[in-house]
Amino acid sequence: MSGRLVIAIDGPAASGKGTLARRLATHFGLRHLDTGLTYRAVADALLAAGAGLDDEDQAVGVARTLGFDRLDKGRLTRPGIGEAASRVAVMPRLRAVLVSMQRAFAEAEPGAVLDGRDIGTVVCPDADAKIFVTAEPEARARRRTLELRQFDPGADEAEVLDDLRRRDARDMSRADSPLRPAPDAYLLDTTDLDIETAFRAAVEHVERVRKSRR
Ligand code: DC
Repeated sequence: MSGRLVIAIDGPAASGKGTLARRLATHFGLRHLDTGLTYRAVADALLAAGAGLDDEDQAVGVARTLGFDRLDKGRLTRPGIGEAASRVAVMPRLRAVLVSMQRAFAEAEPGAVLDGRDIGTVVCPDADAKIFVTAEPEARARRRTLELRQFDPGADEAEVLDDLRRRDARDMSRADSPLRPAPDAYLLDTTDLDIETAFRAAVEHVERVRKSRR
C-alpha cells in the first residue's frame, strides 16, 4: 500500500477552506493546490485578451498552458476575479481539462491537499479524507471584508455579502459539478470557530480516517 495521503477540502467562497488546506498541507508534509486559483487564472487570461467569459474554446486553450506552480495569487485574488472565475467555471469542457490536471497533481507522491468546490465529489472521489467547510454567509462576508480592507479601506461588507451570495448560488446551481458535500465528507461549520479550533478538528478527522483504514 502506498503512503500517499490525499485530502479534499470543499466549501463556499470565504468559508476558511484555503487557510485550512494550507495548514493541513504543512502539518502532514503534503503539497497544496488551491483549485479556485486555476479557474481564476483562466478568467484573468480571458479578460486580459478581451475575450468573453463564455468563450469555451479560448478558455480550454488557456487552461492547457497553465502552470500550477506559476499561479500569481496576489494578482488572481483581486476584486472581481472571483465572480469572473465562477462564470467561466460553468463550462464543462474547461472543467474537464482543469479536473484532469488537478487529478494529476493529487496523484503524485506523497499526496496533496486540494481545496475547491468539487474535490471530494469529482476531482478526488477516492480521497483519504474529505472535509466540507461551511459558515453562515454573514460570517464569511465579515471575514472577507476584513481581508479586503488591508488593500482597500473602503471595502463594503454589504456588497461583499451580495457578491458571496451571488457566487454561492451560481456555484451550487450549475449543471456540471455543482458545489455540494460528498456523502462521506466531514462537515465543519466554522461560523463560531476560530482558525485554530477549526484546524484541530480537521486534523483529528484526518487522523481518525487514517487509523480506520490501517
Ligand atoms: O475558491 P475561489 O473563490 O478562489 O473560487 C473561484 C471560483 O472558481 C468559484 O466561485 C467557483 C470556481 N471553482 C470551481 O468551480 N471549482 C473549484 N474546484 C474551484 C473553484
